[in-house]
Amino acid sequence: PTKIILDCDPGHDDAIALMLAVASPKIDLLAVTSSAGNQTPAKTLNNVLRLLTLMKQQQVPVAAGNQTPLLQDLQIADDVHGKTGLDGATLPEPDFAPQPLPAVELIAQTLRQSDGPVTLVVTGPMTNAALFLAVHPELKSKIKRIVFMGGAMGMGNWTPTVEFNMFVDPEAAKLVINSGVPLTMAGLNVTHQAQILQKDIETMRQINNPVAQAITGLLDFYRIYYSQPKWGFEGTPVHDPCTIVWLIDPTMFESVYRNVDVETKGDLTRGETLVDYYHLTNKPENTDVLLKINREKFSALIIAALKTFS
Ligand code: BDR
Ligand code: CA
Repeated sequence: PTKIILDCDPGHDDAIALMLAVASPKIDLLAVTSSAGNQTPAKTLNNVLRLLTLMKQQQVPVAAGNQTPLLQDLQIADDVHGKTGLDGATLPEPDFAPQPLPAVELIAQTLRQSDGPVTLVVTGPMTNAALFLAVHPELKSKIKRIVFMGGAMGMGNWTPTVEFNMFVDPEAAKLVINSGVPLTMAGLNVTHQAQILQKDIETMRQINNPVAQAITGLLDFYRIYYSQPKWGFEGTPVHDPCTIVWLIDPTMFESVYRNVDVETKGDLTRGETLVDYYHLTNKPENTDVLLKINREKFSALIIAALKTFS
């Protein structure tokens, strides 16, 4: 199995990514760190603990991430994810505690203790990943790859050209994307195809275990935001699981290998990712940019994973 550390800000779609990481025999979940993004850092940490309690995964080490983005104030997405960050489901209160060390140090400890390289999966703003690379450059070579949800080629979901995770911490994204660590980017081009349809939600509702019931409740809430006509979506895009699904089965995707960089200064474009699709710069390719996904296989994988819980 692929050893991973998941850095996330649950968040409805983060919750599904975490569920897949727990359920899949192809993934070995070594640790989870929380980031500030969809909700405040206290709430995203609590949500990680609540989800792992629900899934009976209290043995997974958890640590709290940075309280704020590197340079700017935190902006949250409570209109998408609600006041808890995971509105729509009744989740148990956590019955275990996070590790008494910050996310950056849990990532370092996990890498030091691992006998092989570890993949870092980032499904929120990149603050913790950037801080980790700055504080522990000696451990960079132990990161096999960073697979992240964020950015897009030519579109945005928070401003016309900026995706939310990039919007929250553009400086962190710039540091990570220019770090030299191999990257896989699940941006909006692919995640907007990764839709859960209403019929999929109804299939999930029939799965009789607490994890499936919780995820169904989360999707009932989350779909409301994406059913606004401005999006023009048939279903509900669940962005973050694309990272884990790519690790489980990359054949579900089409991608291109290109240079990606991040704008941190533009008045209108701060946080925009620039994918050099036509090789217009001399900058080296640094990112596998996912562009297409097989939606049917994607939703089938999520449904199958939900059936593995008791
Ligand atoms: C990203 O922002 C959050 O709302 C989601 O969890 C996802 O990581 C999509 O832009
Ligand atoms: Ca997220």
